[in-house]
Parts: sequence; structure tokens; C-alpha cells
Amino acid sequence: VRVYVPCDSGALSMGAERVAKAIRAEAERRGLVIELVRNGSRGLYWLETLVEVGTADGRVAYGPVKVADVASLFDADFLHGGAHALHLGITDQLPWLKNQERLTFARVGITDPVSLDDYLAHDGYRGLRNALAMTPDAIVQQVTDSGLRGRGGAAFPTGIKWKTVAGCVADQKYIVCNADEGDSGTYSDRMIMEDDPYVLIEGMTIAAIAVGATQGYIYLRSEYPHALVSLNTAIERAQAAGYLGEHILGSAHTFHLEVRRAAGAYVCGEETSLLESLEGKRGLVRFKPPLPAIEGLFGKPTVVNNVISLATVPIVLDKGAEYYRDYGMGRSRGTLPIQLAGNIKQPGLVEKAFGVTLRELLYDYGGGSASGRPIRAVQVGGPLGAYLPESQFDTPLDYEKFSEIWAVLGHGGIVAFDDTVDMAKMARYAFEFCAVESCGKCTPCRIGSTRGVEVMDNIMQGKQVSKNIALVRDLSDTLLNGSLCALGGMTPYPVLSALNHFPEDFSKASAITS
Ligand code: NAI
Ligand code: SF4
Repeated sequence: VRVYVPCDSGALSMGAERVAKAIRAEAERRGLVIELVRNGSRGLYWLETLVEVGTADGRVAYGPVKVADVASLFDADFLHGGAHALHLGITDQLPWLKNQERLTFARVGITDPVSLDDYLAHDGYRGLRNALAMTPDAIVQQVTDSGLRGRGGAAFPTGIKWKTVAGCVADQKYIVCNADEGDSGTYSDRMIMEDDPYVLIEGMTIAAIAVGATQGYIYLRSEYPHALVSLNTAIERAQAAGYLGEHILGSAHTFHLEVRRAAGAYVCGEETSLLESLEGKRGLVRFKPPLPAIEGLFGKPTVVNNVISLATVPIVLDKGAEYYRDYGMGRSRGTLPIQLAGNIKQPGLVEKAFGVTLRELLYDYGGGSASGRPIRAVQVGGPLGAYLPESQFDTPLDYEKFSEIWAVLGHGGIVAFDDTVDMAKMARYAFEFCAVESCGKCTPCRIGSTRGVEVMDNIMQGKQVSKNIALVRDLSDTLLNGSLCALGGMTPYPVLSALNHFPEDFSKASAITS
């Protein structure tokens, strides 16, 4: 009997390692033979540790399992899907999973992340095999036709970026994967790297063949130690099996891949400071142009793509551009791995075609707030994304629709707040975050963020509220238009959205002084 206990760090934080040990020990004690598989997470984080058993009808789920439940699970014959208080039914039939469109996350939670055999048995490396039979131009065209746009947040068309790099003549080109996932409430990059690392490696290899690069780097945030192990193991195994290195699968293509650890600066997720950091320098933002596509790492043409963008390429090359493009709405094609976090009853990973509304995500998937109080605001797109009030919860997830309401989708992180949130505090926090994380290169961000904290303090103490609110607006205008990169340039999103949608929180103390 196969028993699956996740090794994803979200599950590990809920005690999955101890549960796995307890299951192994209990099986031995009872003289039962089991095959314990350490799979990735299915993404239903409120049910971790989610234990599954393989049955003739499919995998049956139990959760959330604690060490103390293990003996009773055996008593209930869970190895054959027996009834138990934690019995959830056939995993794939759980509404949370059944109603998703898992394309990029097709294997996540299902396979043993570092098993190459498991990857191959679940359609792995089919995209690369197709790519090897195509011309580089045809690969770029396929990615362009799929409509895939950068999933790091900026939504730039991936195919066009690749075309720019492919069109450059250079003795060396690079593929750099931005895995410095720094947005609050986001974890989709981490899940891919921990739970299906080969799909990222395959995507990077296809990118390398398409643009003529021979060296790749994964710039990994230092807070992801499990992803580091998973990636390095997978790279080693892919290399040993001929999927990386010289003469990939007997072809004329070469691609070497290494992981580099970041040092914890949020701004190093910005592509040019990331490149500085990769070169061993301080993570200062560079002026653009030149674009990294033309002069990137060590001055050479470089594709810088987010983990999810690259991990989506294999399915595009496997199933074709049209298959992928058929999902979505408007100019937002395909799917987005959405991450539910914050004050939410059922946090987790939901991959859906663009077009799903915030309300569906928050209530049908998220089950409302964890506190049971009304959800008052959600922040979409990280710490520099706008706060949306309940009246905007019917907005469909679509880059253009979000832009119409002066919001961003970013990397697909949704953080929920109930009605106890103080939005003035959240606006102050945005300035504070910017002040702490600023690289210091340009004045609006370096100095403006600190002044913003001071002005917010005055507002919160009720000092000259209307005058100080006007100052916040003025300052935001300067940051928006005068910053060199998105860190300073987007700080006004949380500040002004909080102010515009929740003005009552900014005038609470106004009665104290004029
Ligand atoms: P951007 O709009 O300046 O650039 C987007 C991408 O397109 C860049 O890679 C740029 O080099 C490339 N590009 C533009 N024109 C091109 C051309 N003609 N040929 C080839 N490539 C071209 O946006 P930026 O500053 O790179 O990213 C800002 C976004 O980052 C924000 O929207 C935010 O949502 C997101 N973000 C994501 C975080 C995360 O943890 N994933 C953290 C913080 C911000
Ligand atoms: Fe650096 Fe801030 Fe200017 Fe970006 S906006 S370049 S983080 S100082």
C-alpha cells in the first residue's frame, strides 16, 4: 500500500515529518508493509498534514493529521480507505481541487518531487522533446502564440522577451530565473521549486534552446532552504540522465544550470538589482535601458523570467500554444496560480484560468475569513499592491480589469483582512516597508518613504489631518512618477487605495486636534 505524506515546507511546518515517522513506526509495529512516498503539497494548507493512501478508486485523503491520530487511523484501516473522523474522500474529487485548472501545477502534490522517473511517468520532459525537434524561432513563436505573460508581476509577453534575446548576436547568453519570491502572501514559486523542480529545469532548458543560451542561474531567495535541496537534487539527476549539460538528449545543445542563493533583500527581486547581486555586487537597481534582454548578466543578453513563467513553458510546448491560450479572458491568457493567505479560513494554492472573481476565490475556495468576521479588504499583488474593498470583489482576475480599477494582479498573492483592520496603519506600513527595503539609489523612494511614515504618524495622532492627507497625496504623486523602479513607484498603490477606499480610518483621530 502506498501512503503519501508531503515533504513541502508548508506541510513540514504543520508536523508532516513527525507524522511520516509515526506512520512508518506504527506500520512496523503492526507488521504491515507500506510504501511511504514523500510527495509535494496538494496546496490545501489548512488540511496539512494531508495524508493520502492509494486505493483502487484513487487516492483517498485524511487530514489534518497529527501524530496523535496515527494509531486510530490504522485502527480504522485507513490503508484501505477506511472511515475515520479525518476521512475526506477521494482527493481529486474534493471541490477545492476538482474545480481548479491545474496546468502549471499539474504534478504538484502528486509526484515525489525529486524522482525523475515519477516526473517522466507524469508527462515530464515531453515539452523539451518537442522543442528539440523544432527550430529556435518556432519555439519562440509557440510561446508568443500561447499568450503567456510574465507571472512575476509585470505581465510582459514572454515570447517577445525571448525574441529580443534570440535576436541578439553574442558569444554568451544567459537564462536567469527570478526565484526571489518576496511578495507577502505568495508561495507559488516555492511550491514549484520544492514540489516539482524538474518542470522549472525543463522550462529553463527550453528557453535556453530558444534563445541560444548555454548557462542558466536560479536566483533563489535565501529563506527557501527546502527548495535549495530539491532543486540541487533535481539538477544533479537531470544532468546524470542527459537532460542537462553537454549534448542534451544527444542533440547539439548545451545548457548548464546552477542555483545561487540570495541574501534576503526584497529589492533583489527587481531584475536589474538581481543581476547586480548575481554578479557579486550590492543589489542596486540599474537604469533601464539597456534592457537585460540586450545587456543583462555580465553585460550579455539575458532572459530574466519568474519561476512560474518558466515552469509554464513545458506545458505550452507539450500541448501546444492553442491549448494554453484557450484558457483565460481578454489579453490574460492561460491560468494563474493564486495564493490565498492572511485572515482566510482555507488558505492555499488555487490555479484557475484568468476570469475567476475575487469573491469566488475568497468565499468558494477560501471559505471566508478565519476569524469568522466579515472580510473588509484584500491586498492583491504583494505589499505594494492595492487594497480592494468589498465593492470590488466581483472584479475578474485579469491584468487589464485590475488596471482599470487602479490595482495590480502582481504575482497572484491575495491577503485577506477582516473588519478589525486599521487601514491607516496599513498605509503607514507601506511607507515603512519601502523605507526599509529601498536600495537608496533615487531620492523619491529613499527619502520620500521615511517622510511618508512621519506624515502618517501625524495623521494617526490626529494632527492637522486634512493638511497631512494632502501631503500624503503629493508625496505619492512624486513616488509614482519619480521613482526609478517599482519599489518606490508602487508604494502609492497600497497608500492611496487605503486612503481612497477607507477614508474613515484616516480621520478617526481628527477630533483630537485640528
Ligand atoms: P517592467 O514593466 O519594467 O518590465 C517587465 C519585463 O519586461 C522586464 O523583464 C523587462 O526587462 C522586460 N521588457 C520590457 N520591454 C522589453 C522589450 N522590448 N524586450 C524584451 N524585454 C522587455 O516591470 P518590472 O520593474 O520588471 O517589474 C515590476 C513588477 O514586479 C510589478 O508589476 C510587481 O507586480 C512585480 N513584483 C513582483 C514581486 C514578486 O515577489 N514576484 C515582488 C515585487 C514586485
Ligand atoms: Fe532603489 Fe527605491 Fe529607487 Fe527602486 S525606487 S531604484 S528601490 S531607491
